[in-house]
Amino acid sequence: MHIIKLNAIDSTNSYLRELASKKLLDDYTVVITKNQTKGKGQIGAVWNSEKDKNLTCSVFKRNSGVSIDNTFYISMVTSLAIIKTLQLFQVPKLVVKWPNDILSEQKKICGILIENVIKQQDIEGSIIGIGLNVNQTQFPDLPSASSLKNLTGTLFDVEELLARIIEQLKYYFEKLEYDKHDFIKRAYEALLFRRLKPSTFKDVEGNLFSGIIQGVNNNGTLQIQLEDDIVKEFELKEIQLLY
Ligand code: BTN
Repeated sequence: MHIIKLNAIDSTNSYLRELASKKLLDDYTVVITKNQTKGKGQIGAVWNSEKDKNLTCSVFKRNSGVSIDNTFYISMVTSLAIIKTLQLFQVPKLVVKWPNDILSEQKKICGILIENVIKQQDIEGSIIGIGLNVNQTQFPDLPSASSLKNLTGTLFDVEELLARIIEQLKYYFEKLEYDKHDFIKRAYEALLFRRLKPSTFKDVEGNLFSGIIQGVNNNGTLQIQLEDDIVKEFELKEIQLLY
């Protein structure tokens, strides 16, 4: 693993993306920083992380045969690798809230931001950004956020966690390279928060509706069973899971 350690940077994803546009990167090139000053979250959100406390890193993964229709497998593989790592460290009650928020005891402890690097209309590779709350204990204005320290009472070594996550990423990406799509999807869906439970969602107009999460499609849309047993697919921007 080629690791680039930075004392401070605006966003490890932006840094690695820029690097990938300039030179040919090895698989699993990692950028990690102790102080991310302008972290990016999903759908234009910001990702705040207290200096010296958490894992904020990005991993470059060359595309090995994932077609444009199957890009969500990269997301599933990443969620699985993080959950598996955290299970090994005895972090309690881990699930993935679609599409890729990692929850423990129903609190968000990790966010994932995947950006694809496109060259000549092909996905050359992906920048896998991981923000894992490790030793931070205060989350002002974020009542649904927590950290490994808050959940387990223990302080963790951030670089040790990174090394274990990379091991698990290699394991699950190998499954993907060997076309074990069913295995990956089944493992992901088995960890999906509120799957097969009646839940309440909010659409973009602010209307609430009930439905039951069934699973995901290869392109990442969420399948929700609505009234009259109709199953409809939703994109991330279209809905919010409330409870
Ligand atoms: C989310 O909104 O849940 C995704 C958060 C992703 C945050 C990580 S921290 C490291 C990497 N660099 C970024 O700018 N974002 C990702």
